[in-house]
Amino acid sequence: MATMGNIIFWSMIVLIIAFSTLIILILALSLSNDSSSTSSVVSRDRFPLANLGQDVLLSCHLTVAAAVQVTGAVAVTWTKAYLSGEVYKYQDSAPQLEDQNPQFDGRTQVFPDAVARGNGSLLIMAVTSRDDGVYTCSISSSNLDGSVHIHLRTAAYSKPTFSVKDGTLTAMGSRWQPEPEVTWLDSKGTVLQGITLFTENPTGMYSFVSSLKQVNVPTTYTFKVQNLLVTATSSTNVTGSGVTEKTTFSFSSSTVPVLSPSRFLLPLSGLLMYAVGCT
Ligand SMILES: *[C@@H]1O[C@H](CO)[C@@H](O)[C@H](O)[C@H]1NC(C)=O
Ligand SMILES: *[C@@H]1O[C@H](CO)[C@@H](O)[C@H](O)[C@H]1NC(C)=O
Repeated sequence: MATMGNIIFWSMIVLIIAFSTLIILILALSLSNDSSSTSSVVSRDRFPLANLGQDVLLSCHLTVAAAVQVTGAVAVTWTKAYLSGEVYKYQDSAPQLEDQNPQFDGRTQVFPDAVARGNGSLLIMAVTSRDDGVYTCSISSSNLDGSVHIHLRTAAYSKPTFSVKDGTLTAMGSRWQPEPEVTWLDSKGTVLQGITLFTENPTGMYSFVSSLKQVNVPTTYTFKVQNLLVTATSSTNVTGSGVTEKTTFSFSSSTVPVLSPSRFLLPLSGLLMYAVGCT
């Protein structure tokens, strides 16, 4: 015959197993949300980097498999974490902007033809640093819905320009943010000592003039401008008649976590401890 103690003991075991299952389920759900998930909505680039002042397209669309199954009109809603209202909403073949946050007034659009095919990509015009953050794109139709998170980062960057005069090679750059570092390298990759002057303008943009004295002619030099998010690498050829240059940009891929599992784990482990304490 089971005693009261036995019954309580086994109830607690069952409770603990139930809670553990719940924790694993929630973790699995939150993690799968964080990557591109089981959802039928995906993005070509979940960590895009926008150049301040320019436009950026946030990619969001149905997978090919989902798109062929869609029935009825497609609706798209864009929201931004910690921001009230919506960034943009398109439903019943028209923009629905009653709840649009003023930050995005007149600065966002989707492409109606693309939406009809399950592509809800959003254009944000004249990006400012306030646009930095996590966006959620939700696409739905009468038989399907899904969403994806996109982490937009902003920086300012531009191509440096080069000139050579009296044996001095000069690089000039403007519109950089955050503040960059610059490096001169010779053709073997050895770091060379240049003289660089940075200036910050009232809007927080950085400009620079960097000079390398007594350059050899003809030679190849590499000039790098780099901040946390962007690297511009220019290879230059200095000849008797001037300098030619080719610049490529590369962008850091951020690993900022969108969703922290501890938000779920802490309250649940609290409950679990309470249950164990009761036995
Ligand atoms: C979605 O639409 C945008 C805007 O027309 C386009 O640039 C992009 O390539 C489309 N993406 C896909 C996956 O079709
Ligand atoms: C510099 O010169 C080399 C060799 O002549 C050439 O391959 C390269 O394309 C040139 N680069 C630029 C930026 O002009």
